[in-house]
Amino acid sequence: MARRTELTRTIRIGSSALRPFREQRLDLFDDFGALGLRARGEAECAFNFFDGQRIYRGPAIIPAERVRLNGECCSTGALFSRIAGAGASSSSGGQVTAVELPTTLARRGAPVRLEGLSKVFADAVAVADLSLEVGAGEFLTLLGPSGSGKSTTLLMIAGFLVPTRGEIFIDGVPVARKPPHERDIGVVFQSYALFPHLTVYENVAFPLRMRNLPASRIVERVDYALDLMRLEGLGLRYPHQLSGGQQQRVALARAIVFEPPLLLMDEPLGALDRKLREAMQLELKRLQRTLALTVIYVTHDQEEALTMSDRIAVMNRGRIEQVASPEELYEHPRTPFVADFLGESNSLCGKVVRAESSRLVVRTSAGMEVVTGEGVELAAGREVRLAIRPEQVGFLGSEERSDNVAEGVVEEVVYLGEAVRYLVRLTPGELLCVKRQNQRGSVNPQVGQPVRLGWSADAVILHTVER
Ligand SMILES: Nc1ncnc2c1ncn2[C@@H]1O[C@H](COP(=O)(O)OP(=O)(O)OP(=O)(O)O)[C@@H](O)[C@H]1O
Ligand SMILES: [Mg+2]
Repeated sequence: MARRTELTRTIRIGSSALRPFREQRLDLFDDFGALGLRARGEAECAFNFFDGQRIYRGPAIIPAERVRLNGECCSTGALFSRIAGAGASSSSGGQVTAVELPTTLARRGAPVRLEGLSKVFADAVAVADLSLEVGAGEFLTLLGPSGSGKSTTLLMIAGFLVPTRGEIFIDGVPVARKPPHERDIGVVFQSYALFPHLTVYENVAFPLRMRNLPASRIVERVDYALDLMRLEGLGLRYPHQLSGGQQQRVALARAIVFEPPLLLMDEPLGALDRKLREAMQLELKRLQRTLALTVIYVTHDQEEALTMSDRIAVMNRGRIEQVASPEELYEHPRTPFVADFLGESNSLCGKVVRAESSRLVVRTSAGMEVVTGEGVELAAGREVRLAIRPEQVGFLGSEERSDNVAEGVVEEVVYLGEAVRYLVRLTPGELLCVKRQNQRGSVNPQVGQPVRLGWSADAVILHTVER
């Protein structure tokens, strides 16, 4: 029979400045790795338990793999002991994800499809024949240099710009010619655009008043959105009485309060300092997972894109160069542009000279021979570009071997805190950047010091050059 431990604890579910904690006596039991929650003595249970995928209305037994602690997976045992150890009511400290959700919040993110989307301004093609699919509940980032068409794409999805050509499907419905308010999309732009004469509470309530929701539902939803964005207690302040990060969270609360199936964000964290930006990145990810929102996010900060995205679309001159997971993009950039834009890379031009046991040997324009990874067949004489990530190049001892070895002299040392970056002038004349984790006790080469560098053939990313 099932191992069954029963415990009775009061869990506080939901809180806000305007509505006190609702305390709920719950029976918790551990049932073969499933966590059970049962409201005490009530015919109909008044709580919801959200595990990031679906809402359970008690009495409920939640499969072990669905239980979340602080948004992360955890064993039911860990959650159980956290609740048991916490004692009555102290689980309100945000440890356990037992959040009360408005009962209507059963909606999931909507899939989005862009088909041959173009935007031509009088003198510029801003977006050129762009096609892209974003899955339901996916976090997709448009990443690219200034002027590559990111904002224009987002504005077309939001409905603030009409495409010159192409169609936009949200949840399978074509919307390219619909006005913004008929698209039901949450939008956050870099400038928070809060209403300065309205309190935080009224700012967040605004989209609901526009939708003519009954007053009781508005209170419920605004409370929920303020809770979610950790803005409890700030409802009565005006925007100018808030910090930048708080204002940004109000903008987010306003964008999600009407439960949009799609959230668009254009550099929402650009104005914040680094620490706050990183905290907000985590907050945003939590929000997106909790609500299972589809998010299309714009940034030109590659670190931000790598941290947050399920997939990244790298844009260049109004087109998408590559769409892939962060790892795939970084490890296997399909074009030199992507290799250069995402992360650092040493870029070398050269020609194939010969094949050596299924590997190619390339001679760079400065005359250095580089052995590349397996699996590419190219004729001798073919022009190529090579990309080598600085962290893939290491300093070698005098006897150490590697697929590629080159000697040179350190020309520059830049201390980055967690790493040190070196510029090494190689004997054949190439300048190679080397990045090394900063570890206590390791001896760092100095400027002017002769060094041997080595990198594996597999670390060499090869692109052919089309003539
Ligand atoms: N209203 C407009 N009229 C004319 N050209 C425009 C207009 N809006 C944008 N553009 C042009 O379209 C191109 C793409 O602009 P967009 O704002 O989409 O770039 P972006 O990728 O968002 O850049 P950034 O990172 O600087 O915000 C740019 O060359 C820009 O000058
Ligand atoms: Mg922009």
